Amino acid sequence: MRTAIITGASSGLGREYALQLAANFPEVEQVWLIARRKPLLDELGKQLSVPYVSIPLDLTSSGDLELLSRRLEDEKPEVTVLVNSAGCGYLSNVADTDPALLSRMTDLNIRAMTLVTRAALPYMPQGGHIVNVSSIASFCPNARMTVYSSTKAYVSSFSLGLREELRERKISVTAVCSGPMDTEFLDIGGITGNSKMFKTLPYCDPKKVAAGSYRAAKNDRAFHTPRTFFKLYRFLSKIIPETVMVKLAKT
Ligand SMILES: NC(=O)c1ccc[n+]([C@@H]2O[C@H](COP(=O)([O-])OP(=O)(O)OC[C@H]3O[C@@H](n4cnc5c(N)ncnc54)[C@H](OP(=O)(O)O)[C@@H]3O)[C@@H](O)[C@H]2O)c1
Repeated sequence: MRTAIITGASSGLGREYALQLAANFPEVEQVWLIARRKPLLDELGKQLSVPYVSIPLDLTSSGDLELLSRRLEDEKPEVTVLVNSAGCGYLSNVADTDPALLSRMTDLNIRAMTLVTRAALPYMPQGGHIVNVSSIASFCPNARMTVYSSTKAYVSSFSLGLREELRERKISVTAVCSGPMDTEFLDIGGITGNSKMFKTLPYCDPKKVAAGSYRAAKNDRAFHTPRTFFKLYRFLSKIIPETVMVKLAKT
């Protein structure tokens, strides 16, 4: 059965990916919605025109990642779309951050994104699409969000390398580099009210980010960076030395 898998579907950008799935990929016959909060997945699923399966998983847990792998092995769905949107980021200097939160960022943003992709790949057909949610934080290290920005640099780098590996299989891989979005991410990460940078930057609309991501995936684009402002930031971060950029890009 032609299947889409969306992680982080219970809120924010992941929820938007689910809501816009059918309009962009009408061939998809079912969607697997993944996050920890099952009631929110069910509430979302009921709004979709495509049949859904809620799969409550904590993607930082090895056991839960194993459950997903096993379910894929058992059901062998044809994974035509994979969206890795689950992610978290905490604002604080490394030395002041609870080690558990540092682990959560690397476990979710790096390890889970990598292993969910690895688990889905055997079931992805030619013409499939992978959308990995990175961030403008991937462009250069952001002090006070050092671990978060490092994890997103990994997401972008991983996506670009994987894209090359999957060229012959004709599977597209797109890294989405959004600027700030007004989602739960900001409160959970202790960012709301604590960062001048986040107050100053223009915000991205998750609806537009999801629409742009799907457009980019269908056009086989390596990156989707919403808004001219952030496209310019990406360009500058490539031509200005990192040691200079890091001083300008403090959160
Ligand atoms: N908001 C921004 O400013 C911004 C900017 C650039 C990039 N991004 C990236 O955009 C992506 C989506 O974030 P968002 O803004 O939509 O934030 P969000 O509303 O907080 O969504 C995060 C999603 O990840 C899920 N999640 C968190 N921990 C999880 C875990 N351990 N296991 C499984 N799922 C988990 C959450 O669901 P549960 O809590 O139900 O598990 C939720 O569905 C992230 O990768 C983030 O890094 C965000």
